[in-house]
This record gives sequence, C-alpha cells and structure tokens, in this order.
Amino acid sequence: MNIFHISDLHYNPKNVNALLNIESVLNHVKAQKIKADLLLVTGDIINRDYDNYQPVFELLKATNLPFLCITGNHDKSQNLISALKQFYPSHPMGDNPSKLDYVCDDFPWRFIGLDSYAANSAGGNISDTQLFWLEEKIAESNKPVVILVHQFTLKTGLFFFDTQSRAPWCDKFNALVSRYADKVKLVACGHLHNALISHISSVPVISCFSANWQAYLDFEKVPEMKEISRPVGYFIHRRIDDQLISYAVAV
Ligand SMILES: [Fe+2]
Repeated sequence: MNIFHISDLHYNPKNVNALLNIESVLNHVKAQKIKADLLLVTGDIINRDYDNYQPVFELLKATNLPFLCITGNHDKSQNLISALKQFYPSHPMGDNPSKLDYVCDDFPWRFIGLDSYAANSAGGNISDTQLFWLEEKIAESNKPVVILVHQFTLKTGLFFFDTQSRAPWCDKFNALVSRYADKVKLVACGHLHNALISHISSVPVISCFSANWQAYLDFEKVPEMKEISRPVGYFIHRRIDDQLISYAVAV
C-alpha cells in the first residue's frame, strides 16, 4: 500500500504563485513511478479568506486517486463537510454531523480522520468526547491504524508553534496514542509548513510540507512567522509487510 500525503494547500485562486506550487505537487504525485493507493490531505485545504472548495476538489479529483481530507485551522468544519457532500460524496463521514471525524476501512489499514477545527484558534481543539470516540475506533479495529489530525501534537522546538499553536488536547491525544502504540502505525499531520518527524512511543508523527508555502524554521523567536523560499513537497508512506517507510519528496 502506497499512501501519498499532501498538506496545507491554502487554496485561493487569487494567489497565482500558490496555484503553481499546488499544481506542481499534484503533477509530481501523478507522475510518480509507484502508484498511489490513496492520497491524504491533512488540512488547511483552502485559505481562510476564501470559501469555495469546488476548484481545489477538482484539482484533487484530477489525480484520479481516492483522497481523505481533514479540517485544518483554516477549514471550518461545517463548510468542509458540506463541500465534501456536494462535490466528493464518496468521502467517508462520521456520526457527528458537526465534526469531520470518520473511519475509513476501504484499505488494509484503518484510517481515522480527526477534526480539530475550533474558531479563531491556530492550535484547534479535540474534545474529550472526540478522544473517547477515537479510543473506541482504535480499540475495536482488527487492522493497523493511521490517524489524520492537522496539528503536530508533539513539541516542535520551534518558537511559534510551541508557544502560539500547541493546545492542551495534544498531551491527552499523545497519551492515548501511546497506549495503542502496537496498533497505530502513523499519525499524519500538517500545519507546520515544514517536514518534521518525531514519535509518540514507537509511533511516527509526521508533519508534511505545505503544498503552498514553506515556513521559516524559527528555532529562536522571530518578529513574525515568514515564508521562506524552498521547494514544496509531499510524503509517500509505503507499507512493506508490516513496516512503514516514509519518503520526503521535494518537488
Ligand atoms: Fe494550519
């Protein structure tokens, strides 16, 4: 199973450079010699100053790959849920109509999407009810599990994300995943606009590059978070037997 992973498209048709970046990432995905079974899109699909998902879904559908989305802090839950129902109705939905929390069992591993959107909050929120639901869905699965959640839930060592954008739910989430480290194979994230990798116990937590713009690595405090000129990219997570190998692909 080859799982392709893109993130943080921040789609807005007025941003021409961003459009070129998004298209170059998707073209690279389409041209890969190994065939993707699935495309993960880990949030911030549109930028918050834009509200029509149709054009970006058309770009994603043009890859001819099934894709799974989650909300980022720029995607209002209700807007993304409505857009998926209208423009990509085969996308899985959960029981909670106000949250894009879902399970996808179409593949040899179970994929669980978690909706961390909270209004005006970069760090988002996952409620205790959602964590209870997550634990139930991991525990009942007889297949290995991949979790999709927008925010990188561990400390990054980067000033902005650790001080402005890391919310208390992350520690509860990490403790839960640690209890199921034998079953969870990957936590796939975005949000950092950088490729970062760490672990919850033995579980890799991987933040994908942004397909739009790359963030400065602010190891020390900078006056403002700024864009840096660096190639965009994506990840390929490859399952070989029960091992997962993740490739960072710069475009
Ligand atoms: Fe984000």
